[in-house]
Amino acid sequence: MFTKRKFPLTRLRRLRSKPFIRDMVRENILTGDDLIQPLFIKEDLKGTEVIPQMPGISRFGLDSIENEIEELANLGIKSVALFPVINPDKKDEFGTEAINQNNLICNAIEKIKNLVPEIIIISDVALDPYTSHGHDGILVDGYVDNDKTLDQLVKQSLALAESGADIIAPSDMMDGRIKLIRNALEEKDFKNIILLSYAAKYNSKFYGPFRSAVGSSSNLGKSTKAEYQMDVANSSEALHEVALDISEGADIVMVKPGMPYLDIISKVKETFNVPTFAYQVSGEYSMLKSAIENKWLEPEVMSESLLCFKRAGADAVLTYAAKEIIMELNK
Ligand code: PBG
Repeated sequence: MFTKRKFPLTRLRRLRSKPFIRDMVRENILTGDDLIQPLFIKEDLKGTEVIPQMPGISRFGLDSIENEIEELANLGIKSVALFPVINPDKKDEFGTEAINQNNLICNAIEKIKNLVPEIIIISDVALDPYTSHGHDGILVDGYVDNDKTLDQLVKQSLALAESGADIIAPSDMMDGRIKLIRNALEEKDFKNIILLSYAAKYNSKFYGPFRSAVGSSSNLGKSTKAEYQMDVANSSEALHEVALDISEGADIVMVKPGMPYLDIISKVKETFNVPTFAYQVSGEYSMLKSAIENKWLEPEVMSESLLCFKRAGADAVLTYAAKEIIMELNK
């Protein structure tokens, strides 16, 4: 006869009882390699300029960006995503400035690559920083024309590639753009340029502070991007989008926004098992940051939120907090 075992046999708290064992059984970690820093570069700006809607984040001039890049590289940030804030008088209905090989972003890429060649530059492909109406594409009778926009996006991609961008990231949500951009890059012998597709990009209000930062919100006015960005209510459609972009030649797929869309990240990773990035967008950043500044939340919520991206399946995260978090991780 054996003695009756005492309840409970399984104590999950055993593995939480001491730091050493918690460290040993931890399933996910956040490292500097996971962090991508988005940066805003403003034409004709000298020095920096704060962005009121994004606490702690500034726009940089072409003069001050060098310093920032060097600092980031020294901290261990491996990659930055660049966003242009161009002079309003350069915006037109076709986003013509986007394909100018001598535009702000192309100049910035060349400059940065000369200074810090090892920093990986991700460059967005979409027309919204360049259009007078603030849409990501070309309007025909008030509707963003998919195929006309594609021609422009291909030219924009080639200009970015010529300037030295390492990763080209179409964020426009036009159909078929990955295939055309990939073909154009192959034709011009840009064989190792990585295509990071904003594959599942939702029509989200969390982009508000970004649009203020790049100065596209006033152009867009009351108009929405619902005719091309995904419906927030949909999830199967995200898998369809991702499947297409992979088949068209995307190397990495991205889900955006991030935190309210962890379910999508998780499904994408489980379904396709390809490199999957997430974008902790401006509204998510500002929401956490303003609560931290008001002492309503502790600063650790930022790294907690980033670790949750890893747990959900993201391989890397674009986050405005990259610099401050890597400083924490380096301690
Ligand atoms: C532009 C673009 C947007 C963001 C990245 N690229 C805004 C939009 O689609 O309106 C949003 C990033 C953020 O909110 O941080 N196509």
